[in-house]
Amino acid sequence: EKGTYPHFMLKEIDEQPFAMRKIINEYQNENNELKLDADVQMAMKAADRIYIIACGTSYHAGLVGKELIEKLASVPVEVHVASEFSYNIPLLSEKPLFVFISQSGETADSRAVLVKIKEMGYPALTITNVPGSTLSREADYTLNLYAGPEIAVASTKAYTAQIAVLAILAVDTAQAKGLKLDFDPMQELAIVANAMETLTDQKEAMEELVTNYLQAARNAFFIGRSADYHVCMEGALKLKEISYIQAEGFAGGELKHGTIALIEEGTPIIALATQPDVNYAIRGNVQEVIARGANAMIISMKSLEQDTDAFVLPQVHDLLTPLVSVVPLQLLAYYAALHRGCDIDKPRNLAKSVTVE
Ligand code: F6R
Repeated sequence: EKGTYPHFMLKEIDEQPFAMRKIINEYQNENNELKLDADVQMAMKAADRIYIIACGTSYHAGLVGKELIEKLASVPVEVHVASEFSYNIPLLSEKPLFVFISQSGETADSRAVLVKIKEMGYPALTITNVPGSTLSREADYTLNLYAGPEIAVASTKAYTAQIAVLAILAVDTAQAKGLKLDFDPMQELAIVANAMETLTDQKEAMEELVTNYLQAARNAFFIGRSADYHVCMEGALKLKEISYIQAEGFAGGELKHGTIALIEEGTPIIALATQPDVNYAIRGNVQEVIARGANAMIISMKSLEQDTDAFVLPQVHDLLTPLVSVVPLQLLAYYAALHRGCDIDKPRNLAKSVTVE
């Protein structure tokens, strides 16, 4: 039940710090060390390439997961939209492991791929919020998200839970391969949980940003580079599905290759700047759109803060920034939809679980 909350979506945004803490507890042993099933660990170690298969928001979590697995565990990862993969199977490696990411565990497009790759004899791991679901039963292994039931059609806490579990999977694989990490993953996730709490306590600031940037908007662009780019795609999906404002998530450097033609006086641009390596570059992209009249805001990480930034995120580990940078974007979508009087928990044309291909 939604209790005192006006919408499930807002409740589920607020539940993210609790979900993080639950995940930390569920995936550690008695010595507070990160621990996964030995079977999952062996399957990850045996794979020469990981194929992540998912749809929508889960696909966006997969894009972040690729960064985590490649950077921490040094295993190459491809991320595919399920409905594309099933009709156009790419050249596969010798020892692939398929990882299905699905909140519901019932998405037909993802299941179609699972059926095909099982016929081909390949192993599959499902990461889901519903352990007894179809995708969980039909795969060889399951990792649970522990996010609790997600009722609102727009996925929020499942996205961050998926990224956290993918981070744990990446760290576990790195450890199994004897790779050294220079940070304590569980401690870093605990820092994330606290940061999320700080963010969910700042709803008024988010509502004000909606008033200043999205009130009369017909369209909006989210721009970022590297990890921020993936979060921008998720921020744009959230905004369009619940507020019906046309939105696109774009790679900062790619705008000038065409899309910048759409920037007019007052076009809202939401830029993420959480990554030190691309901080200078993304800020340059923001200058380019401001020069064309855009109404641009920068959401930055504490260590990269500049005076003119519209909102500053509490500091977390560079690899885990998507877990916090998505929270203001979820809230921007929520308040934009609220101000427009949209049916937030049940947006038009959408169902919570998409069981047709
Ligand atoms: C967006 C959203 C959808 C789902 C997609 C996959 O907010 O909820 O894009 O992410 O339909 O669903 P699952 O994860 O259940 O396979």
